[in-house]
Amino acid sequence: MIIAIVGSGNVGSALAQGLVRAGHVVQFGVRDAGSAKSRKAQASVSVPFLAVRDACRNAEAIILTTPPEAVKDIVAEWGDVRNKVIIDATNSVRTRPEPYPTAFHALKALTGSEAVVKCFNTTGFENMLDPVYPGFGGIDMFCAGNDKSAKAVAMKLSLDIGFGACWDFGGDDKVELLEKFALSWINMAIMQGHGRNLAFKVIRRP
Ligand SMILES: NC(=O)c1ccc[n+]([C@@H]2O[C@H](COP(=O)([O-])OP(=O)(O)OC[C@H]3O[C@@H](n4cnc5c(N)ncnc54)[C@H](OP(=O)(O)O)[C@@H]3O)[C@@H](O)[C@H]2O)c1
Repeated sequence: MIIAIVGSGNVGSALAQGLVRAGHVVQFGVRDAGSAKSRKAQASVSVPFLAVRDACRNAEAIILTTPPEAVKDIVAEWGDVRNKVIIDATNSVRTRPEPYPTAFHALKALTGSEAVVKCFNTTGFENMLDPVYPGFGGIDMFCAGNDKSAKAVAMKLSLDIGFGACWDFGGDDKVELLEKFALSWINMAIMQGHGRNLAFKVIRRP
């Protein structure tokens, strides 16, 4: 699959490495290919670093990995993206793309696309870089949104990069809950001081 990753920081870089390993064609969409974050990403993965518009033009899927408030500027670069799957990996922890509660809501409103899915937001970037915990296998990822085909793409990409499962958290009405779930990870890992090498995994009684 041809995938544009917008934003080449911690999350963008981690996802790019896993997706390239899985055989996908990845291209970064960045505002500055010479920024410190872009240069760090260039050292970790060998893919094109293009202007946002150019990276997204022929992409089948776009993954947004920027601060949420950047979404309005970024969507203005895109043109018509209604034939692409858009994956929102952001969290409105400190900032939100006013007047929208989350980047997911902004993406739906500003692109007119139904194929928007929330995914890759619920765990730390280190877990995206290496989702396998010895003795437990791949940790879990989660996605939410109304569009079933967009969710199927997000689920497949999650498994491709090594997550053990990608659980369907529900429709658009569960997107903010998924951000709260991300906050739960942040609370455990950072605020409660348990460290970033922890992850959530769903277990079920047979
Ligand atoms: N860090 C985590 O573990 C984690 C986990 C899950 C979800 N998230 C969410 O994922 C998002 C990214 O987090 P991160 O830790 O990867 O952040 P980061 O390392 O600070 O990277 C942010 C990236 O966004 C780019 N960016 C910022 N404004 C932009 C704009 N207007 N147009 C284009 N690109 C722009 C930055 O470009 P420059 O290089 O030019 O500054 C940078 O490449 C956030 O919403 C965060 O809440 C983070």
